[in-house]
Amino acid sequence: MIEHEALVEAARQARENAHAPYSNFRVGAALRATSGRIFGGSNVENATYGLTVCAERVAIFKAMSEGERGFDAIAVVTDTDALTPPCGACRQLIWEFCGDVPVILANLKGKTEMLQMRELFPKPFDSRNL
Ligand code: THU
Repeated sequence: MIEHEALVEAARQARENAHAPYSNFRVGAALRATSGRIFGGSNVENATYGLTVCAERVAIFKAMSEGERGFDAIAVVTDTDALTPPCGACRQLIWEFCGDVPVILANLKGKTEMLQMRELFPKPFDSRNL
């Protein structure tokens, strides 16, 4: 867990930039690339609601668009007692781009939990199904 502290801290910082005026549910994510670089992301909402992008996907798209391929771990931070796991859409993309990585969930009180993607997404549709 110790090596994941920097990742949780990056997710905490990313959460500061959450744009969540509709839900007031502020989320931060951070993704560590195999290069060692860490990419933060926050949720970004908009008036249509449906075009909202989750923090996890913002982090993934930032990293991919910077040329990163291959990731070690992702962290998700919210200010809730019950930790927040990635939504279904994010699980699909975390699986595709990161594979069976550890997913570190944390809140602002220091509660953490680590899950593997294969637990969160046990029977995936992916390129092997095409
Ligand atoms: N949200 C995330 O950013 N990540 C999650 O893992 C769960 C949900 C966002 C989407 C929306 O802006 C708000 O949280 C409420 O669903």
